[in-house]
Amino acid sequence: MKLIVINGPNLNLLGKRETAIYGTETFQDFFSTLQFKFQEIDLEYFQSNIEGALVTKIQEAGFDYDGIILNAAAYTHTSIAIGDAVKAIETPVVEVHISNTFSREDFRHQSYISAGAKGVILGFGLQSYELAIQSFILKSKV
Ligand code: DQA
Repeated sequence: MKLIVINGPNLNLLGKRETAIYGTETFQDFFSTLQFKFQEIDLEYFQSNIEGALVTKIQEAGFDYDGIILNAAAYTHTSIAIGDAVKAIETPVVEVHISNTFSREDFRHQSYISAGAKGVILGFGLQSYELAIQSFILKSKV
């Protein structure tokens, strides 16, 4: 199974960004533990701070990979282009967030991704990504 984690803006700063919300672990370290834990999965990682680069990566992965795990970060709440890209592709997308966006500011309650996503996992810290991987494994066993 081939999955890709796509992270949006500022998620390259995990580990030192607003640690009370996002924790102290870097995504690189966390991603290494995921790769070790799910060795049977071809697991890739892409991060960009640029909206168009995220759209391009979603399009590239969207007809080839078995699943996309997408944390579009702040673009979740603003980007019709990323929402349209998610709707345009065939690969199922699971939207993830580290924090519980519904317990935060009102502007974080809106998502342009959710309508096109297969499901949404949020509020479990970095474990949200692991739960998303598990959802694809469970699906492949059904
Ligand atoms: C986030 C939540 C967004 O509101 C925020 O802009 C982020 C991270 C999360 O994973 O909790 O950058 O997507």
